[in-house]
Parts: sequence; C-alpha cells; structure tokens
Amino acid sequence: MFIIRGLGRRYYERFAMMREYAFLFPILFRWRKRVWKAIIDEIPREAESIAEIGCGVGSFSAYIKRKFGNKMIYGIDSSCGAIHKAKERYSGRGIIFLRENFFNLNEKFDCVVSVHVFILFDVKEFYKQLKRILSPDGTAILSFTLPTPFTRLHRIFYKIVVGDDIVFKEPDFLLQQASAHGFSSYLKKIDWSEGSFLLKLKI
Ligand SMILES: C[S@@+](CC[C@H](N)C(=O)[O-])C[C@H]1O[C@@H](n2cnc3c(N)ncnc32)[C@H](O)[C@@H]1O
Repeated sequence: MFIIRGLGRRYYERFAMMREYAFLFPILFRWRKRVWKAIIDEIPREAESIAEIGCGVGSFSAYIKRKFGNKMIYGIDSSCGAIHKAKERYSGRGIIFLRENFFNLNEKFDCVVSVHVFILFDVKEFYKQLKRILSPDGTAILSFTLPTPFTRLHRIFYKIVVGDDIVFKEPDFLLQQASAHGFSSYLKKIDWSEGSFLLKLKI
C-alpha cells in the first residue's frame, strides 16, 4: 500500500510539472499568470528575503527573481525530484533551492509566498509554523482555490493518485484562525473561473 502511494506521489509530481507547459493551454496560462501577478503585486518592496513554499520545479521562484533581482529568493519543496529539476533549470540565477519539508524549516524570511500549496496542510499547524519562520513584521502571501468543477475534479484525481485528501478551506475559517494566531489578514479574489483567492497575512 505504501509503495503504491509512493509511486502515485511520484506520478503526481510529474503531472504537477506539466504545469510548466501551461502556455499551451490558454486557460491554464491565464490562471497561472493572474495568480503570479496577484502575488507579485503584494510583495512588500522592503522585504529582503522571500521564500516560496512548494516551489515545484522553480518557475515562480525564477519569476520573482526576475522581478526583484536584488532580493534573496529561496525556492523550497519537499520533493527531491522537483528540487533537482529546479536546480538544473535555474542554475546560475542566484536562487537558493532547498529540498525541505515546510514544517521542518528553522530559517527566518521577510516574506513567504506559495501558489496553491497550503490547501494541502492543516490550517492551524500551517499558521503556527508560518509564525515561526516569518521575521518580525514579516508578510505571507498565499494563493489557494475554492470548489469549482475543475478543482473538484483535481481533488478526486489527487485522492486516487496520491491517496491524500485536499480539504477545501472555508474563507471565514482561514481569516478567523489567522486572527487567533496573531496575524492581520485580508482575502482577495484572483480569478472566478479558477476559483482562486489570495490570502495576505501580516504579523
Ligand atoms: C500542487 S503542487 C504546486 C506546485 C507549484 N507551487 C505550482 O503552482 O505549480 C504542490 C507542491 O507542494 C510541495 N509540497 C507538498 N507538501 C510540502 C511540504 N510539507 N513542504 C514543502 N513542499 C511541499 C509538493 O512537492 C509540490 O511540489
């Protein structure tokens, strides 16, 4: 059973890497660009270090580096294969790619960003760890999706292939828990057809 789940996860990672070819599919391309731009627009200009959690093969980290060449950019993912590919693709760009589980990070960052990742985590545990790794005055900018026909289909696919549940989070619960963990927060819609939202948190 564990072997099957392990294999499934590996195949899912390959599927996730196919997002790199989003430009071939206008709707995927539009979703991706809108999410990236929404996050970039919210990054505080004074942040010196930015960590992308769940960077996959590194394309958004590379995009951030293109926009903010003078900042330290960290791409972090728990997948060995994804980080290996990210290092291969973006070597020499000054991005630090780390193969690490988010929950084991001890470093501090001025800004933490992530694209459609934190929906995989338990919200309370996520906020606790986020607080540990953000600098005083730090900011987190996270995108996530709510139920739509497409995201429901993806949830079924993820359950079959990886074996884990994606639990759609209630926006009210996200905001209420953010405040319970000492963050000020706000939520913004990014794209109605993808069901994507941006959550900004500040210590
Ligand atoms: C849905 S994919 C999103 C990848 C990328 N952000 C994108 O938009 O294409 C989720 C990513 O989060 C990574 N991930 C899952 N759990 C993680 C954890 N605990 N720590 C770090 N990365 C994690 C996975 O390996 C995967 O690359």
